Amino acid sequence: VVDPNRPVAFVADEPLLDDVQKVAAAAGCDLECVSDVAAVRQRWGTAPLVVLDGAAAALCQDAGLARREALVLVSPPVPPPQLWQQAVAIGAERVVELPEAESWLVSALADAVEAPASAVGKVVAVLGGRGGAGASVLTAALGITVSRAGGNALLVDCDPLGGGLDLVLGAETEEGLRWPDLHLRSGRIAASSLHAALPGREHGAGRLTVLSGARRGTGPEPDAVAAVVSSGRRAGETVICDVPRHLGDAGAAALDRADLVIIVVPAEVRACVAARLVAQLTTDRGATPHVVVRGPAPGGLQADEVAESLNLPLLTSMRPEPHLDESLDRGEFTPRPTGPLSRAAKEIVHTLATTHPHPTTLHPAS
Ligand SMILES: Nc1ncnc2c1ncn2[C@@H]1O[C@H](COP(=O)(O)OP(=O)(O)OP(=O)(O)O)[C@@H](O)[C@H]1O
Ligand SMILES: [Mg+2]
Repeated sequence: VVDPNRPVAFVADEPLLDDVQKVAAAAGCDLECVSDVAAVRQRWGTAPLVVLDGAAAALCQDAGLARREALVLVSPPVPPPQLWQQAVAIGAERVVELPEAESWLVSALADAVEAPASAVGKVVAVLGGRGGAGASVLTAALGITVSRAGGNALLVDCDPLGGGLDLVLGAETEEGLRWPDLHLRSGRIAASSLHAALPGREHGAGRLTVLSGARRGTGPEPDAVAAVVSSGRRAGETVICDVPRHLGDAGAAALDRADLVIIVVPAEVRACVAARLVAQLTTDRGATPHVVVRGPAPGGLQADEVAESLNLPLLTSMRPEPHLDESLDRGEFTPRPTGPLSRAAKEIVHTLATTHPHPTTLHPAS
């Protein structure tokens, strides 16, 4: 039985094929190597990644194979000029010189094994309309909700001045890397490397992985945020970014990749006024934020009134979570599955699932 999730290589040049096979072994990837167009044609529509060399690409083109995503050309050092033309003609996303770009191919193959290119994950950015609005708490609740439902959630802390998302989850003593320890060498990182390096926990079949700030050093670089978000997306995870109100470069990098942007607004007049500025910052970057209104409403302000005052769509509202501060202080934040936070989180997850993916970030190798 042929595994439809196996990446395929059609590489005519033997030394190059050797290199590709070594790279696949390093990636733990069971690469299917084929030696003719008929064989590659059978897997063309289903393989999560196709690797060709120049000679093979010429044969595929002559055979009229349709354009597809996740197609790369490999070449020896200093690709011949016609290879670039071929890459454009066949719609390859990249020319990979071996052995120089070996690490890129290792992580591309590792990703391809983790998730077929069709199962890309979604990205949500959560901002607070004012300081202390409840954005970080909602980010954590979203992660817990996704993993409780059997999904994989990747929480990305983009707030350089926050106390750290790990602290919200009561995970600040858990082993694993934080932002200042994570030195990303390339623009691409495999989700499996993140799972291995970062603190995480399992909820049944689901998994929650946290990339937190560390209460030291500076915040993450925007390129690093972009690489991590793309990695989670490629692996089919739900990526949940805690974005500071002032955005900053790191927050903007997350925002620009989000399929859904949420502003948490407490049901207070002053919060609405402050949230207008936050909303403006996000719309200036082309986002269409949705509002999540959080109680209590000391003056009786209704959720739809809050959203209306911001001129933004209301996604959901939630009553205050009982005993939240005690559980946060004890480091035992586990929202009740039937409580207001979990209920709101489920609605957000549902909305995210039905939201169209962000058009510019679908590219599997970006
Ligand atoms: N769902 C909720 N129900 C009741 N209280 C909440 C809720 N969410 C947040 N809070 C209260 O607001 C406080 C701040 O929450 P949180 O740290 O999530 O806000 P934030 O928007 O991330 O703030 P910051 O501006 O510091 O990033 C919590 O410690 C808690 O007291
Ligand atoms: Mg916060």
